[in-house]
Amino acid sequence: MSSDMKDDQEQENIEREWAGVLGSVSKWVSSLKDGEDPSMPKEESDSIPYLGVLTSGKNIRNLAAQNPHYRLKKLAEANKEVKLHLFFFSAKGIDVEKKQISGMYYDFSEMEWKQNTFPYPHYLLRRGGIAKKYKERFRTFLSQSEEENMTRLNPSTLGNWKVYHYFRTVPSLENYLQETIISSKPSDLFHMLYRHPHVYLKGLTGRKGKNVIRVERTRGNNYHLFRYNASRKNVDTLVFVNYQELMFYVTRFYKGKKFMIQEGIDLLEIKNRRIDVRAELQRNEKDKIIIRGISARIGRANSPITTHAEAVKIDHLFGMVNISQEEKDRLVKEIETFLLHVYQETEKKFCTFAEMGIDFAIDKAHNIKFIECNSSSTKVSLLNAYGEETLEVSMKMVLLYVKHLYSKRMRF
Ligand SMILES: Nc1ncnc2c1ncn2[C@@H]1O[C@H](COP(=O)(O)OP(=O)(O)O)[C@@H](O)[C@H]1O
Ligand SMILES: [Mg+2]
Repeated sequence: MSSDMKDDQEQENIEREWAGVLGSVSKWVSSLKDGEDPSMPKEESDSIPYLGVLTSGKNIRNLAAQNPHYRLKKLAEANKEVKLHLFFFSAKGIDVEKKQISGMYYDFSEMEWKQNTFPYPHYLLRRGGIAKKYKERFRTFLSQSEEENMTRLNPSTLGNWKVYHYFRTVPSLENYLQETIISSKPSDLFHMLYRHPHVYLKGLTGRKGKNVIRVERTRGNNYHLFRYNASRKNVDTLVFVNYQELMFYVTRFYKGKKFMIQEGIDLLEIKNRRIDVRAELQRNEKDKIIIRGISARIGRANSPITTHAEAVKIDHLFGMVNISQEEKDRLVKEIETFLLHVYQETEKKFCTFAEMGIDFAIDKAHNIKFIECNSSSTKVSLLNAYGEETLEVSMKMVLLYVKHLYSKRMRF
């Protein structure tokens, strides 16, 4: 064989080899179209949005250890049919330089939680707070959100005071609000207790009733203070013989920070158990606000808060407190109108909500009274009163709503 022929032969061999390699690469690439990121559904990837769910570092570590938090697991399962690019991350996983996120997703084919790197998502759902250490990074991430076309669906906390302050300017909500002020001088609480036999104090942050105190003024001008102690699962009761002592305790409790003082609602009661209501609302796949469930929470005996309690469907409650059919019909109608107003007005003030938990009360005279809006509800009452299936439907609806938003975005 001449050296030229040898070269040609070699060239041919190389080309054949390359063709083989390229063939398998292209086969590999086309197989990756579906499988490169198993969190991706088997459809045209462009038409599918990324939904990033921001949760705590602890939740992410638990996912990595294949020990998912119940609600995150439910949300991931709901995605089996909806097929978004769904991933979970904590602030620690955000890389603001590369504009990408290290997160966890559920691989349905291998039935395993896996880690991957994701682009900034089209939609961001917040299901938890940010560790102090990562606050700055998170702020940068949020400031990038606009240019990155990322839509925030629920803010983390709404700020009770901001909500009240705004609602006071909305005529349709006026009748549902209790007098509420923010403490700015030591005598504020005194004046509120002069006007109302009992008041509720609330920290400007805090959830699950942790920063909520009930104060009553007695006839002899003593002050009784009630606080639910979550770690001991009982109610702490304190008696103060004068206002100074009360103020001293309260100031220390809120660590010198401002707090809200709210006229107490005369809540419905059954055998000393106070009752209030948690409604879960969400937007459906057609953008319509729907009420997923309304659960009455029946507190522990003598507890100032109804959190950590039993929950029943509101219909069940009406049966328990002997409300006539006529009154019940009136109340249901009014509750529905009230809830829709609260949802819409909160969106006007903040941003679009995929879902919202609204706390309210029915007082002894059957008036409806607003308590607070929650942007990342734990849905515990919904689960307890309505069961797992309703919770699953609500999870799926969040994903369908995101899908709907994205298809709307793609049309423009
Ligand atoms: N003004 C009020 N009158 C009577 N009860 C109240 C009042 N505000 C709060 N509560 C009770 O305290 C609970 C916790 O208050 P809430 O404002 O919802 O704080 P959190 O954010 O901690 O849930 C409510 O679910 C309700 O049972
Ligand atoms: Mg609440």
